[in-house]
Amino acid sequence: MKKSLSERLIIALDYSDPGQAKQLVNQLAPLGVGFKVGLELFMAGGPALVRDLSTRCRLFLDLKFHDIPNTVAAAVRSAASLNVWMLNVHAGGGRKMLSAAREALEGFDQRPILIGVTVLTSMDDQEMTETGCPGLIIDRVRQLAVLTSECGLDGVVCSPLEIDEVKQSAPANFITVTPGIRAPDEAAQDQSRIATPAKVIRAGGDYLVVGRPVTKAADPYLAAGRILADMEID
Ligand code: C5P
Repeated sequence: MKKSLSERLIIALDYSDPGQAKQLVNQLAPLGVGFKVGLELFMAGGPALVRDLSTRCRLFLDLKFHDIPNTVAAAVRSAASLNVWMLNVHAGGGRKMLSAAREALEGFDQRPILIGVTVLTSMDDQEMTETGCPGLIIDRVRQLAVLTSECGLDGVVCSPLEIDEVKQSAPANFITVTPGIRAPDEAAQDQSRIATPAKVIRAGGDYLVVGRPVTKAADPYLAAGRILADMEID
């Protein structure tokens, strides 16, 4: 079934105060959007907060696991037992790690969506080269998307600029999750590879992750509404 626009929007709860995160969930959940817990909030609220938020909304646990296969599989199992809707691992962890992560979810009746992180949206070609991976980000994203799909994961995190490439290289139902969303007049901050919400929808992106444009807005409800309006392209 086709997802509604609000179902496709994920708000990053990038706060160090669990109270603020719960307040934003209460305020925006009626819109039908999903939410994301990343490292900052997880370090403050831990698994208890994740379990609690998972009963109130669709929750993406964005901890980007990257370790040896056995450790990642165990972490994925623990994360899934918190009833999260989506979780992720670094695709750069390699075939064995990705397969172990996918296999770890076999026993769950309603398993979370499992996503591989390709190249962080804050990076550019030069920065990636400095890490010992010379070449173009677009090629590395394609390579990691193919590997991720071969290992049975459901999709990748990539930038809006790589949606087309991923969609052409992976099976039809393979999901893209894209941070790096900014309005045309908005500052990129530490993000490098950005696009507007409308562009992501036009490119066929599945889920849009938005943090500061909503969490730092004077009126987050209004800011989320503006993003949803921009996503309405036809
Ligand atoms: O504030 P902003 O909209 O830039 O937030 C983007 C969110 O998406 C942050 O929580 C960040 O950790 C996350 N993210 C990202 N790039 C990735 C994976 C996750 O920006 N590749």
